[in-house]
Amino acid sequence: MGQIAKAVWALGLAGLLLAACSSSQDEQHGHTLQVNLNQTQDHPSYAALEYFSQKVDRDTDGRWQVDVYPNSTIGDQQEAVQLVRSGAQDMAIVSGTQLENLNKDFRVFDLPGIFHSIDHQMRVINNPDITAPLFQSLEKRHITVLGGFTQGRRQLYTTRGPIKRPADLDGQKIRVQESQTQLDMIQRMGGSPNPMSYGEVYTALQSGVIDGAENNLISYHTQKHYEVAPYLARTSHAIGVDYLIINTQVLKAMSAADRQKLQTAFQAAARRHTHIWKEQTRKARKELAAKGVHFNDVAQPCFEQAFQPLIKKTLTTPLMKKLYQRTREQANP
Ligand code: GCU
Repeated sequence: MGQIAKAVWALGLAGLLLAACSSSQDEQHGHTLQVNLNQTQDHPSYAALEYFSQKVDRDTDGRWQVDVYPNSTIGDQQEAVQLVRSGAQDMAIVSGTQLENLNKDFRVFDLPGIFHSIDHQMRVINNPDITAPLFQSLEKRHITVLGGFTQGRRQLYTTRGPIKRPADLDGQKIRVQESQTQLDMIQRMGGSPNPMSYGEVYTALQSGVIDGAENNLISYHTQKHYEVAPYLARTSHAIGVDYLIINTQVLKAMSAADRQKLQTAFQAAARRHTHIWKEQTRKARKELAAKGVHFNDVAQPCFEQAFQPLIKKTLTTPLMKKLYQRTREQANP
């Protein structure tokens, strides 16, 4: 854990002890909720969280405020999950891949090919009729999921040359998020997966520790990975999801009415996020092309076929099977 994360953890623990002695006061007056984000201020998630913050403030008549901490100020996503769990941190945006490590049922939404579009994904993820059992499944670990933002279509990029088919990835070390689904996915795509946190990827690409990574065009752009890995293969292998998680005790300390307002504000922020996402992806594509990124198409069916065994192998629990089926039912355009 970094020094800042440790200090925040200690402060948070003190705050939690105080909160335990004054929870009824908290319920009346609310407080400031901190949210950790591992993106820059020019990322759509920052803009959508700023909107969420204003809406929460307005809708709760100032009883609750939200402060957004971009650039992983409080820790990377693995640390953020632990900090929210312990109550040292109120909220964080974390990738679904992180939550898989607490409950493997989350793997279902990280599977390649489960969503055919961002709109399909958002129809499912922000529909409590479908997702409530999953989102509440971490409450015994003190984490509640409030909803999700899209991570858009993820693409593969490398330092040395274009990737067109799985065989081109043979022997190439590809960074993945710290998750079983991502490890399996890159193996199926023909590469050697190398897990590491988001903030380490640029230097790892630059120094040759890894040969490539995979992410959406916005992260590829805002994290400047294109500078060191200029070959981008349009694999669109998965549409990832980021979740807003909140410490369950903090959520329960809110009045039922304010809890509802928080939830509604997030739904509105997620809609705005999707809108900004599409705009910014178009802009990023243009700017990346202007900066000399080499885009190429891939032999799509080879990758899709490679994922079939992964889907079969992953869907092992009744909840995953149900979520998969309900998601596919929503797949109409
Ligand atoms: C995306 C996603 C992040 C995630 C990152 C990664 O940018 O929005 O939540 O951390 O991918 O690859 O680690």
